[in-house]
Amino acid sequence: MTKKITSSQQAIDMEEKYGAHNYLPLPVVLSKGEGIYVWDVEGKRYFDFLSAYSAVNQGHCHPKIIDALKKQAETITLTSRAFYNDCLGPYEQYITQYFGYDKVLPMNTGAEGVETALKLARRWGVVKKGIPNDKVCIVCCDGNFHGRTITIISMSSDPDSYSNYGPLTLGFKRIPYNNVDALEKMLKEQGENIAGFLVEPIQGEAGVYVPDEGYLKKTYELCKQHNVLFIADEIQTGIARTGRILACDHENVRPDILILGKALSGGVLPVSAVLADDDIMLCIKPGEHGSTFGGFPLACEVAYAALEVVKEENLMEKAEHLGKIFREKMKAIQSDMIEIVRGKGLLNAVVIKPVKGKDAWEVCMKMKELGLLAKPTHGDIIRFAPPLVITEEELLTACEIIKQAILSFE
Ligand SMILES: Cc1ncc(COP(=O)(O)O)c(C=O)c1O
Repeated sequence: MTKKITSSQQAIDMEEKYGAHNYLPLPVVLSKGEGIYVWDVEGKRYFDFLSAYSAVNQGHCHPKIIDALKKQAETITLTSRAFYNDCLGPYEQYITQYFGYDKVLPMNTGAEGVETALKLARRWGVVKKGIPNDKVCIVCCDGNFHGRTITIISMSSDPDSYSNYGPLTLGFKRIPYNNVDALEKMLKEQGENIAGFLVEPIQGEAGVYVPDEGYLKKTYELCKQHNVLFIADEIQTGIARTGRILACDHENVRPDILILGKALSGGVLPVSAVLADDDIMLCIKPGEHGSTFGGFPLACEVAYAALEVVKEENLMEKAEHLGKIFREKMKAIQSDMIEIVRGKGLLNAVVIKPVKGKDAWEVCMKMKELGLLAKPTHGDIIRFAPPLVITEEELLTACEIIKQAILSFE
């Protein structure tokens, strides 16, 4: 049993001493979660407005998902893909019908989902489009965040992500985000060697950058003109977060390759998935890609339940409706600190202009004191992404806390 912690400070000290220093968390130590709330070691309750970076869309410890986990945990957890298991087929049928694709390739973390999509697109580029193996490349965007593996950071424009990790992976071309002309130019000049265009429909980690309306549609059409796969990383934006099941649905775009993660398990297990039609997916043959845990029985049962909850509890409609209220409330706060409010559904950000030397970190610390957790990104942006199970009344209470925190610096 790891439960040796009796105070928040003790837990922080232990992480500092024994853990790698690859994160800088807000100083709060959580020991319990239920729905939209989390509790710290001392028993103080908070609104969770990060939702583990949108992994907990269905709320903490959702009873239906936990029930699926418990039942399966007592039956069989892991078989490896050396054998079939009786959970994978039904899950694959459910998820492919849910999102409208021929096939799914199950993985675990988001980064593995992205790696899988890159391999799939490259393979398709070589065997179907006929690009020479050493020439095939993928177009990605400035400001992207797709994970932390060597290959994925090779696409990054953020020096914190890619610096001093040695040689990076070749085969990527980066263009500005939200710039249709840049993609058009790239495809016109080098389209014959480009297998795919990888894009976040909203750039989450960069600070919830919402592209102009029509960006996804226009870039999708350009990809079609140049026989290039449109690859959507919906790991953060997918599963109802932005007020549609997929953020691409806002523009009726159906990605050729769709990557999901995070809320696919409701935050219960690392579960990711890559979806595509046969023409693309069957380019990878037995033995050419995989993962010991990918598609393990526990994950299949958890993800099945997590996807059902999204529909049963109308989380998409809730995100759409409550997101509008949230942005209105934020825009109505009379403070010089609020520079920009942006977002879609319940994936939102407030850009903070420091006042009297107080910045986004201090606003987050104040909100923590008042009982709401959110995390600054890139110094001046606070992302607000509560679990989608939040009610209107709860959202309004949370908005009051945010307002009070910001006004405390006036
Ligand atoms: C858009 C996007 N892609 C990929 C990832 C990586 O997911 P993971 O941390 O599960 O590897 C993230 C994580 O924040 C993400 O937001």
